[in-house]
Amino acid sequence: MPTPGDSISVPKHIAIIMDGNGRWAKERGLKRSDGHRAGAESVRECVEICKELGVEFLTLYAFSVENWKRPKTEIASLMTLLERFLKDKTPELNEKDVRLQAIGRLNDIPPKTLRQLHRSIEETSDNSGLTLILALSYGGREEIIDGIKSILHHVEEGHIDRAMIDPDLFSKHLYTRYYPDPDLLIRTSGEMRVSNFLLWQISYAEMVVTKKYWPEFRKDDLREAIVEYSRRQRRYGAI
Ligand code: FPP
Repeated sequence: MPTPGDSISVPKHIAIIMDGNGRWAKERGLKRSDGHRAGAESVRECVEICKELGVEFLTLYAFSVENWKRPKTEIASLMTLLERFLKDKTPELNEKDVRLQAIGRLNDIPPKTLRQLHRSIEETSDNSGLTLILALSYGGREEIIDGIKSILHHVEEGHIDRAMIDPDLFSKHLYTRYYPDPDLLIRTSGEMRVSNFLLWQISYAEMVVTKKYWPEFRKDDLREAIVEYSRRQRRYGAI
């Protein structure tokens, strides 16, 4: 297992599809909300280990645009959990020099949760260690559509000429314009899908899928995923 001094290649940006909270709870005869609560503890551990290993950006798929189709009670319990998590953990984020950010159609989030999110972002804005990015009400296709609309607006205003549109310029119109693309994409609970997550940004990411459910995915599992990433040769289509 690597420690901060080991010569493994630590990804600059890790993105995680946190899946399996519901199945984890069901297998234990618990409620889905118990699964989400246990999942929040995995979030805490992963933030901690990323900070220890020197990962610069960690993006977590916490709530997708598709998740709005879940029962109202589950959505409410997820939003309350998120709000509490942010309120309770913001001092810890500050202690650990973690800056919180969020991407997605944030205006869809219930006002009380959104206010806490903005407060936590504001209170951690001066931190310069790990950047923790929560994808909330996030969809990759929706982000691409929003990016196209933003470019069109700039074209109409005369700030962009259509000849200037290339992948670099397009990236600057995505929610993720301030961050590098993920180097490593992790998905828990064994599904081999990307589920509308960072579709543009994961073009060259290494993918690690683990069978573990998200609430079981802890520090050592993240370390292991980084070791696996480290082993792979990344050639970006070259020979
Ligand atoms: C997927 O499990 C997980 C989610 C939809 C939400 C992720 C939320 C958390 C980990 C809780 C806390 C988050 C933060 C940032 C504090 P699932 O419900 O889709 O599981 P299933 O596929 O087994 O039903």
